Amino acid sequence: MGTTLWIVDINVDGLWETPEIRQAANFLREGEVIAFPTETVYGLGANATDSEAVKKIFEAKGRPSDNPLIVHIADPKQINELVDEVTPIGKQLIEAFSPGPISFIFKKKEGVFSDLVTAGLDTVAIRIPEHPVAYALLKAAAVPVAAPSANRSGRPSPTSAQHVMDDLNGLIKGVIDGGETGYGLESTVVDCTGEVPVILRPGSITADEIKEVIGAVIVDPALKNETEAPRAPGMKYRHYAPDHPLYLVDGSLELLQSFVNQFKRDGKRVGVIATRENLAKIDADAMIVMGSETDLSSIAHSLYDSLRKSDVLDVDVLLSLCFPEEGVGQAIMNRLRKAAGNRVLTESDLFG
Ligand code: TXA
Ligand code: MG
Repeated sequence: MGTTLWIVDINVDGLWETPEIRQAANFLREGEVIAFPTETVYGLGANATDSEAVKKIFEAKGRPSDNPLIVHIADPKQINELVDEVTPIGKQLIEAFSPGPISFIFKKKEGVFSDLVTAGLDTVAIRIPEHPVAYALLKAAAVPVAAPSANRSGRPSPTSAQHVMDDLNGLIKGVIDGGETGYGLESTVVDCTGEVPVILRPGSITADEIKEVIGAVIVDPALKNETEAPRAPGMKYRHYAPDHPLYLVDGSLELLQSFVNQFKRDGKRVGVIATRENLAKIDADAMIVMGSETDLSSIAHSLYDSLRKSDVLDVDVLLSLCFPEEGVGQAIMNRLRKAAGNRVLTESDLFG
């Protein structure tokens, strides 16, 4: 399949009526899959009411069929047609954070979505993105759009149209290029079916921000405890994996350097992913920059790009320091731990 690349100016007025967006929206309505930018990561969209279309998402990504998709809409008013009941906490969170980088889980309305979207669950995740291209495409398509991240399953999520092309060129109908995404990590997924919101996947809207609105918040304990099954089915899969094995170092820059030296003594070539400030302080075979020490959101923004760039390095292993688990740091460490397959090195792992 030839994959069309539409390059759009995200600042143009009436974007939803431009020929590029209209063509992409028509493809969506005709049952094709299209990748598009959101403020979090690029999504791979299909009409959520059309099973044949949704099936193409799973095929293009190589995604396990028990992992449900998030449904995207342009206007919060549409939500009443899609879910059984917008709970009081759901209403408050939608008002506070939508449009934006957050997805809300509600009991679904029966008979609206393809069963493939919800993977057999009686709930559905809904998101109202704020990115101008996502908004324009959803408005022009005028159907609810199921969209996972537009990467091959298991790979880091795409934060540019080039990342999408690297993974899916030839497998999907088209990609709308709206430049790099802003936040860089997928939306916060919040179960709103009960009286207290439960965070199933951390993101740029933090637990503290949600707590400020509702007065209480629960973080799915499975995110911390490996032995429990996570409530978001997607959280159990290995994800975001770079080609070279990644190890996280829980400690100081000096400890990181000691591990670099230890791997080198073992005859390994070592790459290090580090903040701009730390680059010059480390002696390794190759370095990749990832954001700035002074701003966790800059690390979130460049995390997946840094992981993808590391694939071309001529190294045997990759190392990165851990980051503070405050604010968006929770989401950063959640993704990094998965990318590292939970390999975290501490002082006690140094030999003598
Ligand atoms: O930022 C984002 O959320 C991006 C952009 C494209 O919107 N989308 C995204 O989708 O990250 P995906 O499919 O890569 O991740 C969706 C996550 C998975 O962990 C999935 O298991 C969970 O949300 N999820 C979806 N529906 C659910 C439901 N009804 N109950 C529990 N978890 C659900
Ligand atoms: Mg994903």
